[in-house]
Amino acid sequence: MARAKDSPDEPALPAGKEGLSRANRSLDASLRPPKLDDFVGQARTVERLRVMIGAARREGRTLDHILLHGPPGLGKTTLAMILAEEMGRPIRVTSGPVVEKASDLAGLLTSLQEGELLFIDEIHRIPKTVEEFLYSAMEDFRIDIMIDQGPNARSVRLDLPKFTLVGATTRTGLLTAPLRSRFTLQTRLDYYTREQLLSIVRRNAELLQLDIDQGGSDEIARRARGTPRIVNNLLRFTRDYALERAGGKANAAVTAAALELLEIDRHGLDEMDHRFLRAMAEKHNGGPVGLNSIGAAIGEDAHTLEEVHEPFLVQEGYVLRTPQGRVLAPKGWLAVGLTPPSPAGGPL
Ligand SMILES: Nc1ncnc2c1ncn2[C@@H]1O[C@H](COP(=O)(O)OP(=O)(O)OP(=O)(O)O)[C@@H](O)[C@H]1O
Ligand SMILES: [Mg+2]
Repeated sequence: MARAKDSPDEPALPAGKEGLSRANRSLDASLRPPKLDDFVGQARTVERLRVMIGAARREGRTLDHILLHGPPGLGKTTLAMILAEEMGRPIRVTSGPVVEKASDLAGLLTSLQEGELLFIDEIHRIPKTVEEFLYSAMEDFRIDIMIDQGPNARSVRLDLPKFTLVGATTRTGLLTAPLRSRFTLQTRLDYYTREQLLSIVRRNAELLQLDIDQGGSDEIARRARGTPRIVNNLLRFTRDYALERAGGKANAAVTAAALELLEIDRHGLDEMDHRFLRAMAEKHNGGPVGLNSIGAAIGEDAHTLEEVHEPFLVQEGYVLRTPQGRVLAPKGWLAVGLTPPSPAGGPL
């Protein structure tokens, strides 16, 4: 479940947040909503899952394969655990980089029970040579592997129990089409609205026994970058701050002071967001500019920018996507402390 993550795909967090997120991995687990009813937001995904779970249970079938994709910290792992809980089945957890060889995968698959869920996190990081073995495993519940070497080498067919593969990825663009198409459902998680974040703040503050008022909760929801994992990190730090500096009570001022200490900006933008916006403003005069150019300016792969970082900036109106390329909206200029060019045209 909670695990250390060293993926190069994980966005850089400001020092304060990064330190927190490491310390809080186990905390994260205890804050995971256990059932779909407790899971806030993602209405379309939740409805799709309800349909599949309902039908599979009605007919006593194994759940079909499901791919969850979307930016970090939005609930992919949480949903995988919920699927197992709702199906009343065990779940085995692994991650793409761990499955190095076909034999690792074969060992894993043959040890599953009928109806068990296999959660492969960061599934885009499975080596391509191993990925091919997943095709027949997913489709026909069998796997053909080579045993022995040289003249004794032969292919052996292993029958597998019917299992459910739940894949999670921040980078669906990196999955090959054959793998992607073998998931009955491919569903995307989006950033949470302020309202949804607020309800997560309230629920988790209670679990953490943090005495926080409406104003404090608003501060956290506003600065959590649409991301429940960041809500949890900010709540935890705010609790410590309130205990040490404010007699245990977090109101708007105490919460704001705690978050200032973490150098989290008023809108919750992180360091990568700032670099993205600054590159657009300072190197490209606000655009239009392609993601490749932005990526080159800040040393990040364009696809990672597109799938992990940019969606939030677009959703919140900092960046506009136009047919000519990305354009920095006035709100984007202001967020990095610069003045937008006048609408009359011409550079600054
Ligand atoms: N919809 C939700 N309602 C309430 N809490 C949530 C929700 N989604 C996520 N959380 C909280 O956020 C934490 C992080 O979510 P999770 O680990 O599932 O994210 P993830 O999408 O798997 O991220 P990553 O891509 O980094 O693995 C969870 O431990 C849980 O406490
Ligand atoms: Mg996860």
